Amino acid sequence: MHVKFTGMHTSDAIKGRRSVKRFAERAVSREEIETLLAAATLAPNHKLTQPWRFYVLGPEARYAYGLALGARKAKKIADTAAGAALRETVGAEHRALPGMIAVAVMNHDNPETREEDYAAAMMAVQNIALTAVALGLGTHMKTGSVMSDPAARAAVGLPDDQRIVAIVNVGVPAEDVPAKKREPASAFTTWVP
Ligand SMILES: Cc1cc2nc3c(=O)[nH]c(=O)nc-3n(C[C@H](O)[C@H](O)[C@H](O)COP(=O)(O)O)c2cc1C
Repeated sequence: MHVKFTGMHTSDAIKGRRSVKRFAERAVSREEIETLLAAATLAPNHKLTQPWRFYVLGPEARYAYGLALGARKAKKIADTAAGAALRETVGAEHRALPGMIAVAVMNHDNPETREEDYAAAMMAVQNIALTAVALGLGTHMKTGSVMSDPAARAAVGLPDDQRIVAIVNVGVPAEDVPAKKREPASAFTTWVP
């Protein structure tokens, strides 16, 4: 499938981005994912550390990651059978996703570089999200303690010197997500003379 940009202005992509939770069944093509990741690598990064590592998860890996997440949710339920069913449901939901990218970052020994590298990786995530909008795709970024769960790390095949900083689900949106209300920038801005 040929990747086709909509020719959308960046500010429209920024305004049009939403966290999309329901996707159409159509798979995301390899070319589309490669386009998103090419945009990710253009993010600013101090000292050109290029700290990001991308894991494009296929159905088996998505299922395994979902099971890891589901197992954590299941632990909060007293009923063992209901917990096992929930784990399986979450696993199946992840397997059914059209696209899922785990964004990881190299663990640097220097705390300052570590923070900068994390920031750069998150900028890469935003490049993915905005480029997706320009391709007519939607994304949902997710984080949480599951990212450091050994089962989740194993699902991704993560080496010891990296940590996951975001999961980005990708697909053709199957819902119109209304914009969430934001305060105007003036509410957060101080003009310092
Ligand atoms: C660092 C970060 C972590 C997030 N983690 C989650 C998450 O774990 N689960 C989730 O449902 N949404 C997560 N989100 C999505 C936010 O909930 C979402 O961006 C917010 O509700 C605003 O909605 P919008 O993205 O449609 O504008 C995360 C967003 C960011 C920036």
